Amino acid sequence: MAGYDIRLIGDPVLRQTAREVTDIDGALVRLVDDMLETMYEAPGMGLAAPQVGVQKRLFVWDVGPGPEAIVNPEIVESDGEWVFEEGCLSVPGLSWEIVRPKMVHIVGRDLDGNEVSVEADELEARLFQHEMDHLDGTLLIERLDADTRKIALKTIRDLQLGVGGPRPDGGGLTLL
Ligand code: NI
Repeated sequence: MAGYDIRLIGDPVLRQTAREVTDIDGALVRLVDDMLETMYEAPGMGLAAPQVGVQKRLFVWDVGPGPEAIVNPEIVESDGEWVFEEGCLSVPGLSWEIVRPKMVHIVGRDLDGNEVSVEADELEARLFQHEMDHLDGTLLIERLDADTRKIALKTIRDLQLGVGGPRPDGGGLTLL
């Protein structure tokens, strides 16, 4: 296993739409192992393939019960509204209160190619929505209102958080 460098805001790979996974094979399983190692090392609770420079529709996560991975995920239902202080491993050291649906139903495939279906609430639902955004080339700052986003972008510039900048400590933030 080998850990990856997590791509940071400003890296064009984070702005692209990831492609459907066509083959669930040994190489994909190794990718997932390496992504999990990278996620735990960060440490974070979720990591999407584009964050390690791989344009495939898959992400890994662990909100407590252990490591999980989903391939070609799709949100088929969402409900409610929930405010949560959200952080991202690709925008290190910062977090914002973001409103998103409280509950989501996600479907996809596991690493054996079997269909999976997960109904999630609160933190896990938030994580799913955040990682789905990564697969579509969207970062959490795009979920802020225009004024807050302007301030966020200035902060990111001032801290030089992007490519080549320092990597601040995650310090207790929930990083997805
Ligand atoms: Ni993220």
